Amino acid sequence: MKKLTIIMICMFSWSAQASEAVITSLQDGYGLEGASTFSASRGASMWTQTFTQKKTGQAVNCASCHSTILTEAGSHIRTGKVIAAMAVSGNRGRFNDAANIEKWFLRNCKWTMNRTCTPQEKGDFLAYFQSQ
Ligand code: HEC
Repeated sequence: MKKLTIIMICMFSWSAQASEAVITSLQDGYGLEGASTFSASRGASMWTQTFTQKKTGQAVNCASCHSTILTEAGSHIRTGKVIAAMAVSGNRGRFNDAANIEKWFLRNCKWTMNRTCTPQEKGDFLAYFQSQ
C-alpha cells in the first residue's frame, strides 16, 4: 500500500513537471517569434472575450466549451461532451504534448475568434492555465 502511494505521488509530480516543461518550451518558442513577457491576467480576459461564430452566428468564447472556472470541467457547446478542466494544477494528462496543444490552439482560435492566435496570445493563455 505504502509503495503504491509513493509510486502514485511520483507519477503525479512527474506529470505536473512534464506539462510545466512543455509549456515553458512552447513559451520560449513564442518569445523567439517576437512575443514578450506573458501575462496570466491578459490570458484570463481573452478567455472570456466574446466573438460571433462564423457558421452559427452564436456569441462564443473559449469558455463556451471549456468553462470560465479552469479547475472545472467544461461542456462542448455543440456536442455536449465533457471536456476535462484546463487548469495545470491537479490535472494529469493536460499539456503534455506540444503538437497537440498547437493543434487545438489553431483549431479553437479559428473557430472562436475567426483567426489564428498570435504567439503572444498563446503564451498568455498558457500562463493563465498555469496560474490556476
Ligand atoms: C467548440 C468547443 C471549443 C471551444 C470554443 C474552445 N475549445 Fe479548446 N478544446 C476543445 C476540445 C474538444 C479540445 C480537445 C479535448 C481536450 O483536450 O479535452 C480542446 C483542447 C484545447 C487545448 C489543448 C489542451 C491540451 O491538454 O493539450 C487548448 C490549449 C485549447 N483547447 C485552448 C482553447 C482556447 C485558447 C480557446 C479559445 C480561443 C478554446 N480552446 C476554445 C474545444 C473547444
